[in-house]
Amino acid sequence: MPMVDYSVNGSVAVLLVNNPPVNALSYAVRKGLADGMQKATKDSKVKAVVIAGKGRTFPAGADIREFGGPNREHWLVAVGNGIEQSGKPVVAAIHGTCLGGGLEIALFCHYRIALNSAKVGFTEVAIGILPGAAGTQRLPRITGLPVAFDMITSGRHVSVEQAKKYGIIDEIVTGDIVNEGIKYAMSVVGKSTIPRRLRGKSVPDAENVQKYADAAMAQVKRKYKGYEAPVYCVKAVQASAEKPYDLGVANEQTLFKVLGTSGQALAQQYAFFAERLITRWEMPGGNYQTAKPVPVRSVAVIGAGTMGSGIAVCILSAGLTCYLVEQNEKFLQNGIKTIKSLMEGSVRLGKISVEVGKRATTLLKPTMSYDDLTGVDLVIEAVYENLDLKKEIFAKLDKVCKPSTVLCSNTSSIDIDRIAVATKRPEKCVGVHFFAPAYHMKLLENIYSTQTSPDTAATVMKLGKVIGKVPVLVKSCQGFLANRMNTPYGTESSFLVEEGALPWEVDQVMEDFGMPMGPFKVRDLSGLDISMKITAEIAKTLGVTLTDETRFMGGSRYSHLNTILAKKGRLGGKAGKGWYKYEKAGGKIPTIDDDVVAILDNHRRNLGLEHRTISSQEIIERLMYSCINEGFKILEEGIAKRPEEIDISWLYGFTFPKYLGGPMYYANKVGLDRVYERICYYHEQFPYTKHWVPSLLLRRLSEQDVPMSQWMASPGAKL
Ligand code: 3HC
Repeated sequence: MPMVDYSVNGSVAVLLVNNPPVNALSYAVRKGLADGMQKATKDSKVKAVVIAGKGRTFPAGADIREFGGPNREHWLVAVGNGIEQSGKPVVAAIHGTCLGGGLEIALFCHYRIALNSAKVGFTEVAIGILPGAAGTQRLPRITGLPVAFDMITSGRHVSVEQAKKYGIIDEIVTGDIVNEGIKYAMSVVGKSTIPRRLRGKSVPDAENVQKYADAAMAQVKRKYKGYEAPVYCVKAVQASAEKPYDLGVANEQTLFKVLGTSGQALAQQYAFFAERLITRWEMPGGNYQTAKPVPVRSVAVIGAGTMGSGIAVCILSAGLTCYLVEQNEKFLQNGIKTIKSLMEGSVRLGKISVEVGKRATTLLKPTMSYDDLTGVDLVIEAVYENLDLKKEIFAKLDKVCKPSTVLCSNTSSIDIDRIAVATKRPEKCVGVHFFAPAYHMKLLENIYSTQTSPDTAATVMKLGKVIGKVPVLVKSCQGFLANRMNTPYGTESSFLVEEGALPWEVDQVMEDFGMPMGPFKVRDLSGLDISMKITAEIAKTLGVTLTDETRFMGGSRYSHLNTILAKKGRLGGKAGKGWYKYEKAGGKIPTIDDDVVAILDNHRRNLGLEHRTISSQEIIERLMYSCINEGFKILEEGIAKRPEEIDISWLYGFTFPKYLGGPMYYANKVGLDRVYERICYYHEQFPYTKHWVPSLLLRRLSEQDVPMSQWMASPGAKL
């Protein structure tokens, strides 16, 4: 089937790309464009050409699924050169998202018009590469260096209004984009295309390239620490001002090839597809296709604490009505204040428009009465982790809310069935686990329980999308997916310092590995009193009394170090000391504290543990492989259906570096047999640590030598 429809309208040839859903520039599309240009050139009746996209968008980039496949002709630069060299004016008529290779094609055209709703951008950096069809050489010739550095290293989508200011778009139009394209093309018939060919233009302000490049490099190293692609993007754009056009393009190609085959690009492309794959969720009795979400226009949030206020900000930012419920006026006022200041911050940072910010004040409905909630479509309970309190709230909600209202709990660990028993609508009860800070972190872990209906699951999956989160659906269990899998990470970091590593050594190793912040800095940030409370809660459930020397709880080895520090008033950053001390820069910068070394020495003596030197490799293995082992158990038990759900949870819940793909993808790269062997080794070393009991699924896969890519559904896993 041709993927570019060719038609002639009067004296204008129209090349309409027809490769749904995003008109990606696959081999067939590239060939269709090249053939279409040839036909238009030969046809003496044709005086101008329009390139546009059928359906929802102008081409949104190269076809990522083709990466890593065989090299095929009709290379995008060659197709683009054919367009640029044409003596007949070529107009790009843009609607939807004109991204990556799509924008490159548009930049080869002599004119660009766009609907006012369209967006343009060079998004390659987000999948670990750089624009590879002369985009790094052509954009600076239009916009100048600072804008080109910014657009290409950030990958941001640029509004058409902004793009016109930058000179990327010649005219903004309304109406049918193809008709508008034809009209525009008629207006430029007969004009010479030579002055419109970007290859012949010079880069403005080229003599200052080093200054701009240094600033861009400093920015990407700070903002995208560890990522290779932004660094390469800077180098490629820099060359546009230092080399003649053709050499600049050749240089871009070299850099593109190096990046394209790098582990980082493959991992980021895996993550791209994994994120889309997990929207195809399934659970007993239904799936994303069969279930019907309840329409949600109004939401109530119960609890105006840090979590509740953060959730309310997400709801309001999406333009939904949000009731905020508290039990007393003071808490309610505090919540309103927090929400207002967060919304103002979002407007300042450009995350939401001024209008949305203003509208939020009328959409926010603070109340102390459950009676106001009779008509709401969905409620999110966000009070502290206490089963009895949650049950009491759900019982009240069940009485006042209309029968169709979906009742959600923002619990991070309590089984939803245990809360739902308080209602007569267990099928409408579901978990929605936000990550702190709720207004910022993208993951929304939705949890179905034995009684949750697929329609209810569909409702919260849809809500997640509406409020700009990445929703993942998992089955209920202790800690669900994210916290259950993350628990060994925290536990092992404590064990490591008990055995001889220092907290700042562990942090450094994990930051070098790619985590934005080491585990001890994270603890100081969230507060050691919080970890102490969680520990006490677990101990209560298990019926054990904690002492400073407690080493075993519930039959498993256990570390009590957080509590020891917290009891000494070392509650973290907010107290000026925790695992670090905070004296510099107004108490914001963590510095090494000898007192912590003394506390650890003393603790080790109390436990009779020998101090030993621990290698970086062991730190990584103990922290990562313990979590990976738990991840395989989560798959074994059907808590998550696919490794992609686990990886996406880590990328968006714990800021795991995208360039490593996620812990399960990472395990596959290391080699499942190697990971399994090391897990067995640590199980032997620490037989009383439950999380080292090897997963049966991992054992099976490693013994049968089955790489994960064979059973991962994401096309990215196979790249
Ligand atoms: N290649 C292959 N498939 C793509 C694709 C691409 N460039 N872009 C999107 N798709 C697929 C998705 O995987 C998804 O497939 P599925 O239905 O089987 O899961 C489908 O198209 C729809 O995508 P989304 O669900 O993401 O649709 P949205 O409407 O939410 O978003 C979009 C549309 C904004 C275009 C988003 O898909 C996107 O950001 N795509 C990637 C854009 C990009 O990175 N382009 C640059 C590619 S690299 C390049 O051009 C190199 C060049 O410089 C040489």
